[in-house]
Amino acid sequence: MCGIAGYIGPRNAVEVVFDQLKRLEYRGYDSAGVAFPVNGHIEVLKRAGKLTELQKLIGEEPRDSRIAIAHSRWATHGGPTNENAHPHYDAYERIAIIHNGIIENYLELREELLAKGHKFRSQTDTEVAAHVIGEEYAGGISLEEAVRKGVKRLRGAYALVVLSQSEEGKIVAARNASPLVLGVGSGENLLASDIPALLPYTREVVILEEDSIATLTTAGIQVMDLDGRPKPLEPIHIEWDIAAAERGGYEHFMLKEIHEQPEVLRQCIAGRVDDKLEIRLDQVFSEHVWTEIDRVNIIACGTAYNAGLMGKHLFEKLLRLPTDVYYSSEFRYGDPVLSPRSLAIFVSQSGETADTLAALRLCKSRRIRTLGIVNVIGSSIARECDRTIFTQAGPEISVASTKAYTAQVTVLTLLAMYIAQVQEMPGVRVEEAVQELVGLAERAEVCLKLEDQMIGLAEKYKDMPLCFFLGRGADANVALEGALKLKEIAYIPTEESPAGEMKHGPLALVQPGVIAMFGSTDREVRDKVVSSMKEIQARGGTVIAIVTDDDTVTEKAADEIVRIPGSKLEFLSALLTIIPMQLFAYHVARLRGCEIDQPRNLAKSVTVE
Ligand code: M6R
Repeated sequence: MCGIAGYIGPRNAVEVVFDQLKRLEYRGYDSAGVAFPVNGHIEVLKRAGKLTELQKLIGEEPRDSRIAIAHSRWATHGGPTNENAHPHYDAYERIAIIHNGIIENYLELREELLAKGHKFRSQTDTEVAAHVIGEEYAGGISLEEAVRKGVKRLRGAYALVVLSQSEEGKIVAARNASPLVLGVGSGENLLASDIPALLPYTREVVILEEDSIATLTTAGIQVMDLDGRPKPLEPIHIEWDIAAAERGGYEHFMLKEIHEQPEVLRQCIAGRVDDKLEIRLDQVFSEHVWTEIDRVNIIACGTAYNAGLMGKHLFEKLLRLPTDVYYSSEFRYGDPVLSPRSLAIFVSQSGETADTLAALRLCKSRRIRTLGIVNVIGSSIARECDRTIFTQAGPEISVASTKAYTAQVTVLTLLAMYIAQVQEMPGVRVEEAVQELVGLAERAEVCLKLEDQMIGLAEKYKDMPLCFFLGRGADANVALEGALKLKEIAYIPTEESPAGEMKHGPLALVQPGVIAMFGSTDREVRDKVVSSMKEIQARGGTVIAIVTDDDTVTEKAADEIVRIPGSKLEFLSALLTIIPMQLFAYHVARLRGCEIDQPRNLAKSVTVE
């Protein structure tokens, strides 16, 4: 996700904010920019590409200012270009803005402003926010007032920071949902999207609360709520070293990314579900295309393949749309039968996986419609697919994929519901399903509270020789992902299959000491899953069952019970079982002393065959 930096004080502010951006580089970005006052005007310098590009631009002449803001962008609305890079001016170039998050109602606002004669230079939602605040500011009020009034017109997530040419001695920032931290110095103050960018300058940090506006001057920091009432400033002292701060205080990126999932789920649906619970994916294909499609092929590798299996489950169950899921490496050499009316969906976090890219090119050569579900904007798969839906999960650094999986499944769910909505399918209660999807982030938060229980289970079973991951229906799909996590980072052999398949072979592996982790969220097959649990226990195996909070059947059968909040859409309950599984894998690996973020033999992005 984007990096934000800001400084006011006696040092060379341009140098300070550039240094701050460097400290946020680990988060990933595709363009960067800086704004600072020069002779009564706000100068904006920005470039697509790495920070070295921005550095060249800054270095073209001496830059010295006591106040500056800067931004590194990870593209969401509009590609990674010079124009789309932040900062953005308002219509009158009186203010410059940087922003992290997604303004959900930016299209409506843009239309409104265009009708008033505004002209936009970029495709970003941020420039729209700049024009909105600029419009308020033109009314002759203070910068903080303009920000306060402006953000009331915005819907969505934002951490935004504003600099004005006529009030040179202050930086104003606002926050709703996206993180923003303030650094309290002596005669100088700072802000950033993340703590590591503050630590070389101060260890006194204020985590700006939701719906707050902060004004930074050299004299101090004032915070108010959206109604203009002052709020107390409560700095905390940060002890972490810089490396720990990059991980948000977590021991590993993987754990940080597991904990980011509620936020990722919110980001993923941001701007895609409106107030009437209608799904907005109109930019994908025009509506008639969805009625022409007679078959879907989902093509991906690893975790993305496992997400694809969840897509198949939904597409077939909800839409009755025949769907196959292929490993990219098999697809490209498998001489697949492709109907001209089919849609090929390519799921990839990195957007650079060589096998998936080759499979995409094969489909394009056969003139099949292609759709990407990709995390990294500007990546090869995103560029080459006819259309792409971005997962908006932010950079994933740990090799073991966690938040990308939940985001991929969420996008596939949105897509399935969108098709049902467009086709007005009788019997599919889209609104109810969307309501469940909107509540998913909150239920994910509850699942994260299971961490202590998962640590206890990890301590108890960390020396297991083999771990089964089992379930039925959607639970069987999530079982594959749970198993992949454990083998990938804890190097424990796993055996994963639909629970009903056990007695056709894998059961032979069960003996005392073997663990079987079950996801059991589907009421209709609860009894069947319990029978499979009994088969394991009868041979000396131990059963850990992840069940929904209304389940009173499974608890009598399992050795260990983990309860997650259930959803009316059982498919979404199954998805959430991945969170305790990820936590289990993580803590087993940690207790076994494994190299978690970079497991042996594996790379984050597999760009070779
Ligand atoms: O970038 P992609 O989503 O295309 O990557 C696919 C797989 O390489 C990836 O999901 C891999 O399986 C992960 N390391 C699993 O955690």
